[in-house]
Amino acid sequence: MKDQKVYITRMIPERAIRLLEGHYSVGVNTEDRALRREELIDKVRGMHGVMSMLNDRIDDELMDAAGSQCRIFANYAVGFNNIDIPSASQRGIFISNTPDVLTDATADLAWTLLLAAARRVAEGDSTVRSGRFVGWSPLFMLGVEVTGKTLGIVGAGRIGQAVSRRASGFDMKILYTANNIKPDFEKKTGASFVGLNSLLELSDFVSLHVPLTPATYHLISEPEFRIMKKTAILINTSRGPVIDEKALAEALRAGQIRGAGLDVYEREPEVEKGLLDLDNAVLCPHLGSATLETRHRMGLMAAENILAALRGEIPPQCLNPEAVKNR
Ligand code: GLV
Ligand code: GLV
Repeated sequence: MKDQKVYITRMIPERAIRLLEGHYSVGVNTEDRALRREELIDKVRGMHGVMSMLNDRIDDELMDAAGSQCRIFANYAVGFNNIDIPSASQRGIFISNTPDVLTDATADLAWTLLLAAARRVAEGDSTVRSGRFVGWSPLFMLGVEVTGKTLGIVGAGRIGQAVSRRASGFDMKILYTANNIKPDFEKKTGASFVGLNSLLELSDFVSLHVPLTPATYHLISEPEFRIMKKTAILINTSRGPVIDEKALAEALRAGQIRGAGLDVYEREPEVEKGLLDLDNAVLCPHLGSATLETRHRMGLMAAENILAALRGEIPPQCLNPEAVKNR
């Protein structure tokens, strides 16, 4: 008897759907697109649990539509800037995310972008495809060396630390900023804690790993580009609005910094026009967690959180355990 209902707002790997179907009546958006706002509002009505995506806005209006029986929105992402958590807590709705399972995949992508930007891989690929490769030449398409350089990690959480660990094979010096000093991390990687401005001034590569909050909105904008080295490369696999994208396009165009590797954008899927025709920007379409293995694990983790919430427990990856007081 399946009297509880769960909705999944996009197709995800099958195993997680099967797991939920063993317990609940499950609806899935099988269209290969994000639901429009009105559709989403309609679909969540009467649900006990919802698996949401990072581009679904979970706010008062949506939680009102879901109804007072709703116990959880399990976000299929580590980031949760799309969700009004205080409002969920007031309603006694749990919010969960998918940390840890995507840390390595995202750190790998940050390195992919770093190496691609340093060695002009995207530009090289398009040069070959368009028939402009006319043979080896001593001064052709020179990039910059990665080995031995300084890597600046902005936000040394799980992902920032995983990016730093990968730097050991490149003999890099690591600087980091974070809300507090992390002695274990320093011991493991030799990283040094510095303020943001010193990090920007001293780093050859700057990689962003902060969550998007009012405090990190446009953290990197015009004044920051002025501090950075002219040879610096900026990597962003966190959230687009952490960078002022217009200011970035201008800094890249003017040679204020050398390059950028971006996986996320301020107004996804829109990308600042000024970036599109710049050779020194490597652009990925939000692929941080996009491996088969990781997406499977994210699905199972989100499903387990729904199972726990609907059993009346606080879910394991709960972001607002205080919600239990309002149940
Ligand atoms: C992806 O961007 C995530 O937050 O999981
Ligand atoms: C996200 O998982 C982070 O803490 O970096």
